[in-house]
Amino acid sequence: MPIELLQKKDSASLEKALQEVSAALEGKMDQLLPEPENGEARVIEAMRYSTLSGGKRLRPFLMVASAGLFGVCREASLQTAAALEFIHTYSLVHDDLPAMDNDALRRGKPSCHIQYDEATAILAGDGLLTFAFQVLADPSTHPDPAVRCELIRCLAQAAGCRGMVGGQMIDLLAENKELSIDEVIRLQRLKTGELFAIGCEAGAILGKAPRQIRQALSGYAHDLGLAFQITDDLLDAEGSREKAGKEVRKDAKRGKSTFVSIMGIERARSQAQILAKQAINHLSVFDERASLLREMAEYVTTRKS
Ligand code: IPE
Ligand code: IPE
Ligand code: MG
Ligand code: MG
Ligand code: MG
Repeated sequence: MPIELLQKKDSASLEKALQEVSAALEGKMDQLLPEPENGEARVIEAMRYSTLSGGKRLRPFLMVASAGLFGVCREASLQTAAALEFIHTYSLVHDDLPAMDNDALRRGKPSCHIQYDEATAILAGDGLLTFAFQVLADPSTHPDPAVRCELIRCLAQAAGCRGMVGGQMIDLLAENKELSIDEVIRLQRLKTGELFAIGCEAGAILGKAPRQIRQALSGYAHDLGLAFQITDDLLDAEGSREKAGKEVRKDAKRGKSTFVSIMGIERARSQAQILAKQAINHLSVFDERASLLREMAEYVTTRKS
């Protein structure tokens, strides 16, 4: 993305920057993903079906925008962003399975297991997860092997059993159970916050940024991730299926523990706004260059999809 686009600051420019990153990311993912052929074509088709259309592409955007703070070259940041989006998409494919949330609609289309079948959806998720690491390990991602190793280590940690997977486990175990607010915060930090955080930190890793700067971005992303997930829970409670592109009013039916279930809609909404402000405060070490990241904090709490 042109640096100027990453530095403007009204919401129209955030929208434009988001669109630009989404289009470039889709091109990159299309180019990276294998062609469906031979006996395994079906799983590759399912991987392409789930990744190549729809989705807000927020995690890749955070990646590209934070890498932009350190002057990282566009190819490196897009390729890393693609790996992150493969992992995020795998998490959605598995999240929708009957054994998990049992959701038939995703990104405005039939979920992967509806379009194909359950076994194919499990394999497509596995295929996306492993492919992400293959992409990161490729020398075209970054010439320095130490940088590639650090990316792989951090992404594996964020996605794994002490990160997104761990959060998904707690989320499922918590159905029809009353969690305390601290327990819900931990659940959401793991299932959503960790992938947001690596989105921002990966830019700093690629740019070999100092530890303190990396921590500021991580603090921003964790608060942003929490504000984002509270808004996801609010959209489930009061949003529309058409705009969200997925089923709504399901969390309460399944007895999910969320900010909304614990504190109600109005308090959850103001909590999301407080977290978004807190996220912005972490960016004080950056100047105008971080204005789109600030805009993003406002966007996550006002979004309708
Ligand atoms: C959905 O994430 C899963 C959550 C963590 C709530 P997104 O709302 O970012 O999904 P897409 O990528 O835009 O479809
Ligand atoms: C899922 O959270 C988070 C993931 C790690 C995939 P949700 O179950 O709330 O996400 P949606 O509402 O189905 O998108
Ligand atoms: Mg879920
Ligand atoms: Mg779900
Ligand atoms: Mg949800």
